Amino acid sequence: MNHNTLSSNWYQDKEIFELEKKYIFSKSWHLLGSINQVPNKGDYVVKTINRQPIILTRDNDNTLNTFYNVCQHRGCILLEHQGNSKQIKCGYHGWTYELSGDLRTARGFDKELIDYKKYQLKPIKHYIWMDQIFIKFNDDDNDLKKILKKIEKIIEPLNFSEYKYRKRDTYKIKCNWKVYMDNYLEGFHIPLVHPKLNTVINYKSYKTQTFDDFSMQWCFLNIDSSPYKNSKDNNKAFYFTIYPNILFNIAPGRLQTNTIEPIDEQNCNVIFDYYFEDVSEKKIREDILFSEEVQNEDIYICEKVQRGLKSDGFNQGIFSEKYEIGVSHFQSYIRDKINNG
Ligand code: FES
Ligand SMILES: [Fe+2]
Repeated sequence: MNHNTLSSNWYQDKEIFELEKKYIFSKSWHLLGSINQVPNKGDYVVKTINRQPIILTRDNDNTLNTFYNVCQHRGCILLEHQGNSKQIKCGYHGWTYELSGDLRTARGFDKELIDYKKYQLKPIKHYIWMDQIFIKFNDDDNDLKKILKKIEKIIEPLNFSEYKYRKRDTYKIKCNWKVYMDNYLEGFHIPLVHPKLNTVINYKSYKTQTFDDFSMQWCFLNIDSSPYKNSKDNNKAFYFTIYPNILFNIAPGRLQTNTIEPIDEQNCNVIFDYYFEDVSEKKIREDILFSEEVQNEDIYICEKVQRGLKSDGFNQGIFSEKYEIGVSHFQSYIRDKINNG
């Protein structure tokens, strides 16, 4: 375990932020959300992740596709927002594409003279697990499948494909994305920052386990004060972090995914997607309200940390071996990626 925290320049230097984009985010898996965003044939939705414009479609064969949202004629952005359509038409010179990405018509070009295969939409690699879509911008192999298999085993018999999507909330936070991650990766602050959460979980049972490129925190819930399903043999909460920035918050009957998207070196967006099993409307509302309360407490503390890190009064701190191994593990991952490219 590394005992020293990242020094404070890692949370505010533009150069480090650029290195993170190059060596971490352009190579890692990103969570795009679940397949419910495109339930019907012809549905499409537009996204931006890691500053890349993306289209997610469900084509006529019911296949999900992920492409760059860029026309192959002269590079114009193709679609905005979301909708349902039989084709994708470029608003610049009128080239059209199938929802599968194939080039359909190339206005202004003789059919025999252009190789249609060469000008299909540029695909982005994706992987679907329990209805969640992960994407990746480069082709290097890495171990997402292995990670998800392990998670699947740990949470057995849960299957999020049976859960229903409820809603998305986006929070803009005035802190470096790693401040939010560091905070998420320990339960050490819970008794002080989240007094109510502290009564819902059994703090003494809180444990952290680290694995290659991910970590897990879990604890028992106090059945009486938990807003979740009350069942004696299912009263655990799991918090998974798939590095660098994908979080799965699992409580009985509920999955909440978070992605922490850097905006610049001192700001990030945190996106919450809520999914529920067959849970009553009352429980769902309670859960969402409670999550918002906890999130606001975390935002408050993360923004305070960012302000502290910017001051001349601090450079580097230390980790508790008992309570902060998750944060230390994550920071070793970051150091390793940046120092070894
Ligand atoms: S850029 Fe799309 S048709 Fe010209
Ligand atoms: Fe927290």
